[in-house]
Amino acid sequence: MGSELIYRGHDDETQQVSDVYSPKPNKPWLSVTRPVRYMLREQRLIFVLIGIAIATLFFALLPSSPAHFSHQKYDYNPIPDTYFPSETRLTHRAVYENRGGFGLVNSGGKIPLGLKRKGLRIVVTGGAGFVGSHLVDRLINRGDSVIVVDNFFTGRKENVMHHFGNPRFELIRHDVVEPLLLEVDQIYHLACPASPVHYKFNPTNVVGTLNMLGLAKRVGARFLLTSTSEVYGDPLQHPQVETYWGNVNPIGVRSCYDEGKRTAETLTMDYHRGAGVEVRIARIFNTYGPRMCIDDGRVVSNFVAQALRKEPLTVYGDGKQTRSFQYVSDLVEGLMRLMEGEHVGPFNLGNPGEFTMMELAQVVQETIDSNAKIEFRPNTEDDPHKRKPDISKAKELLGWEPQIPLRKGLPLMVSDFRQRIFGDHKEGSSSTGSASSSDMSSTTSTS
Ligand SMILES: NC(=O)c1ccc[n+]([C@@H]2O[C@H](COP(=O)([O-])OP(=O)(O)OC[C@H]3O[C@@H](n4cnc5c(N)ncnc54)[C@H](O)[C@@H]3O)[C@@H](O)[C@H]2O)c1
Repeated sequence: MGSELIYRGHDDETQQVSDVYSPKPNKPWLSVTRPVRYMLREQRLIFVLIGIAIATLFFALLPSSPAHFSHQKYDYNPIPDTYFPSETRLTHRAVYENRGGFGLVNSGGKIPLGLKRKGLRIVVTGGAGFVGSHLVDRLINRGDSVIVVDNFFTGRKENVMHHFGNPRFELIRHDVVEPLLLEVDQIYHLACPASPVHYKFNPTNVVGTLNMLGLAKRVGARFLLTSTSEVYGDPLQHPQVETYWGNVNPIGVRSCYDEGKRTAETLTMDYHRGAGVEVRIARIFNTYGPRMCIDDGRVVSNFVAQALRKEPLTVYGDGKQTRSFQYVSDLVEGLMRLMEGEHVGPFNLGNPGEFTMMELAQVVQETIDSNAKIEFRPNTEDDPHKRKPDISKAKELLGWEPQIPLRKGLPLMVSDFRQRIFGDHKEGSSSTGSASSSDMSSTTSTS
C-alpha cells in the first residue's frame, strides 16, 4: 500500500514539474551525439580504427592459403556425364556438401590464411598397413579425424601407434568382409592383402569393396578404391594407359588379386552410375618405402631384406622383366589429390622410371652391399613381362607426378628395414604374420 502511495506521488511530482519547468529540455540529437562523444572519449576511436586496419590487412593484403592442392585449373570440370547422370550427381553432391564435408575442402575458392578449415571424418580401411599408415599420417597432419579399420592380416599396430592418444584418431579391429556402419565424409578403401604370399587366402577384394561401397552409399561419403596395375595383367600395350583393358588370366594363381581388383573397379563404377556414389579409382603401380612388410615376397622388400641379411638376392626368370617403383610419399600425395579432385578416374599412380629386375638388384647392391650375390630362380606363373605407367592423365588432371627417384627413396626404406630387422626383429616379424625369407622362395614375385 505504502509503495503505491509513494509511486503515485512521484508520478504527480514529475507531471507537475514538467508542466511548469523542465531543467533538461527534450534534445533528440542527443541520441546521435552521445555515442559519438562516447567513441571520442578515452581514445576509443583510435582503437576501433586500428582494429579495422588490422582486419583489412589480414584479409586483403596477406596471401590466401591454397585449399590444400592447387588444382584450380580443373576445378570446374564436371565428372564426365558418361559416368553419371547429371541429376543424380547433383543431388548426391548437394547432400554431401550440406553435411559440411567435401565442400569445405574443395570449394574451388581459397581459405583465408589463419582461418582453419573444418576437418573431415575419414575412414581408411587397411590403415595399419604400409600405404595406409602413411596416408593416415598425412590426413591427421592436415587436421582431419581418421578412423582406421583393419584386421591386422598384413598390417601392424606399430605403424599407427604414434597416433594413439590423439582424439582425432581411432583404430577399429574389423574385417571389411563384414559390414560396418560409420558416419564419415570420405572412405579410402585400401584393405586388401597386396602381396602374392597373402592375397591367395583372402576374399577381401570383392566382398570388402562391396561392403565399403554400401557404407559410402548409406552415409553419402566419397569413396576411393586403391586398385592396381595388376588389372593390366601381362600387358600387350606398353606403357600402360588407363584406357587399356588389360591381358589377365582369369584362372591363374594371381587371378584372385588381379580379377578381384578388376571386379572391385566394376562394383565401384556400378555404385557410381547406379546409386550416385561419388567414387575415385587409383591404379597403383609398385610402391616401396618404410613400413613395408619385410617378408611378404614383394620384390623391393625382398631384395632389401636379403641384402641386409647377407643373403643372395633372388631374381626370378632371366631378370629382364621390368617394373617401375614409386616412393610411398608420392603415392599418398596422388591419392589425396585424387580424392579431393573432381575426376573419377581410373588414374595410374606410379613412377614411370622403368627398371629391369637386374637393374633393381644392382641399385640395391649399390645402396646396401656391393658384394651381395644374385641368385636366379625359375620364374613364377603369370609374372608380367613389362610394367610401366603412362601418367599423362594424372599429370594433366591432378597436377601430380612422382618426385622421388629410386636412388633417393631406397635409402629411406633401408634405414627403416635395418632398424626393424636388427633392432626390432622379433616384433617386426611376428606382427607381420608373414613367413620367413626362406619360405618365400616359391611365392615371391616382382609385384
Ligand atoms: N604397395 C603396392 O605396391 C601396391 C600396388 C598396387 C596396389 N596396392 C593396393 O594398395 C592397398 C594397400 O596396399 P599395401 O601395400 O599398403 O598393403 P598392406 O598389406 O601393407 O596393407 C593392407 C592392409 O589391409 C589390411 N587388411 C587386409 N585384409 C583386410 C580385411 N579383410 N579387413 C580389414 N583389413 C584388411 C591389412 O591388415 C593391412 O593393414 C591395397 O589395396 C593394395 O592392393 C598396393
